[in-house]
Amino acid sequence: MKTCVIYASKTEATKKCAYKIQKALHCDIFDLDVEDINPENYDFIVIGSPIRMGMIHKNVKKWVHNNLSVLLRKKTALFVCCGFEENKEKYFQENFPKELVSAALTTETFGGEIDLKKQKGIEKMIVKKALSTHPKEVKLNEENINLFLEKVQSEIL
Ligand SMILES: Cc1cc2nc3c(=O)[nH]c(=O)nc-3n(C[C@H](O)[C@H](O)[C@H](O)COP(=O)(O)O)c2cc1C
Repeated sequence: MKTCVIYASKTEATKKCAYKIQKALHCDIFDLDVEDINPENYDFIVIGSPIRMGMIHKNVKKWVHNNLSVLLRKKTALFVCCGFEENKEKYFQENFPKELVSAALTTETFGGEIDLKKQKGIEKMIVKKALSTHPKEVKLNEENINLFLEKVQSEIL
């Protein structure tokens, strides 16, 4: 089954996860910040995005919107990198078309990484405030990543 990973990333956590999946699946990978891609050439498409201010990356949103009819004819799996995994349902329901979320083989949160040094201005202040009231450390959720990979692998192998 011809497979690819499509992603966009701001501070590279999503990129890291996307490459982990690509390596495990030995498949193609595309960064939507660099190139557009036609999903028609693939049977299985993994889509990944960071969450910022409750929203997915604008390039992922646009690409999914532009390619929705094709994506609904393919096998898909969706993941987001985020600090607050407890908002999983909200992030998927509010950011991806409902029919894509229902059709996806799996939807998963991969946790995230926050490096305050990489943030500037108002964003730095917002993140600092959010972190001060958040009880858990923000880190990548290896368990969820592996679970996601197992599901995708069992489908394509
Ligand atoms: C400015 C900013 C806003 C964020 N907003 C949210 C948010 O609304 N919800 C959330 O769960 N995580 C939020 N996060 C955490 C990111 O989702 C997390 O850092 C993720 O790993 C970013 O992925 P990336 O490195 O691929 O850009 C935010 C992070 C930053 C820097």
